[in-house]
Amino acid sequence: MEYKFDTLAVHAGYSPESDTNARAVPIYMTSAYSFNNTEHARRLFALEEEGNIYTRLQNPTTDVLEKRIAALDGGIGALAGSSGHGSMTMTFLNLASAGDEIIAAKAIYGGAVNLMTKTFAQMGIKFHMVDAHDPENFRRYTNEHTKAYFIETMANPLADIPDIEAIAQIAHEFGIPLIADNTEATPYLMKPIEHGADIVIYSSTKFLSGSGTAMGGLVVDSGKFRWKDNPRFPQYNEPDESYHGIVYADACGDAAFITKLRTHILRDIGACQSPFNSWVTLLGMETLSLRMQRHSENGRKVAEFLEKHPMVESVSYPGLKSSRYYDMAMKYFPKGQGSVYCFDIKGTREQAAKFCDSLELVSIVTNLGDSRTLVSCPAATTHSQVPDDELADIGIKPGTIRISVGLEDADDIIADIGQALEKCTK
Ligand SMILES: Cc1ncc(COP(=O)(O)O)c(C=O)c1O
Repeated sequence: MEYKFDTLAVHAGYSPESDTNARAVPIYMTSAYSFNNTEHARRLFALEEEGNIYTRLQNPTTDVLEKRIAALDGGIGALAGSSGHGSMTMTFLNLASAGDEIIAAKAIYGGAVNLMTKTFAQMGIKFHMVDAHDPENFRRYTNEHTKAYFIETMANPLADIPDIEAIAQIAHEFGIPLIADNTEATPYLMKPIEHGADIVIYSSTKFLSGSGTAMGGLVVDSGKFRWKDNPRFPQYNEPDESYHGIVYADACGDAAFITKLRTHILRDIGACQSPFNSWVTLLGMETLSLRMQRHSENGRKVAEFLEKHPMVESVSYPGLKSSRYYDMAMKYFPKGQGSVYCFDIKGTREQAAKFCDSLELVSIVTNLGDSRTLVSCPAATTHSQVPDDELADIGIKPGTIRISVGLEDADDIIADIGQALEKCTK
């Protein structure tokens, strides 16, 4: 039977009959698994039989999480990682090596920009950071070394919404996979695979786990990208000497990417997810729909309040008619436009800091997708050493505040923001 989203969010990947009859998913806190005999071990290592070897590679609790996110996103398989960054790093390593290039949207999470343009540059992998507002920018930088396009479906921090279908179309013209980070939207608000993404990435630290308690990352494989005989990807079409000479495109077919990600990259890099964190994330995902509805509702109410406030210059919430992404938001996120965006206070860095320091209910935190409302103020904190003109280059003003609207009563959130705005005018 084909279940709908809300049923899958509670049940996918686990059946109580499968093991101990435990109704909830058990936490398997074990590092390793007994082999029945040496032949059993040989068959597992040779991928002739499915089964558990070692928790760096797979774990029954994490397996449920992987199956659940794959079911919610419409993918053929998934792999959990230790954090969003861990999952991104492993994904890039599964596609590119020294001399290769990846094209990424530039208005994305700053930590990802750093990972791409500093750490991967040290490994000889070049990231071109482009303005994703014009999909043709991806075409402009494409050459024979290009191994992937990367976007955030609803980008951190400004909630930019690139035209995913247009970018996917260009990617596929060149036989290049599109990677979409869907952290801020979650599959409840949008399923990138339905719009052409080949690989979907999450920081499950955020809305998927939902309470700001468990670090984690997830990669979902659509199974739709053609690896077989694709000249850009010899690593899928030639024997992998590090893994029994396997040719992934032949041995694994549609699941070539996700199998190599586990058997080769996760095995070597080791950024696996703790079974406990997988369990916490599964618990969060059971209420994903309910929470995302409320996050989106609260996000909208707060954005509408901010837009009318005399101390606020602009609000980047894409569900407002004034947003340049309003049409994209209606096309790709009709169920809700999330709750992470920025607003600019009219004033100086000091006033922005005063605003944050005057908040009573809302916390200053460098995270998002928590049940609690969180703000961060880049100019007064993480970017306090950066001069105003350099800040402007990266789209941050002295009074820019990023907000992640939580699940509290919207009236209380608005009242707290309102009183803090009053204080910062004085
Ligand atoms: C959109 C997005 N992707 C990835 C990450 C990295 O995730 P993690 O902090 O779990 O490594 C973040 C972190 O804020 C993010 O906002």
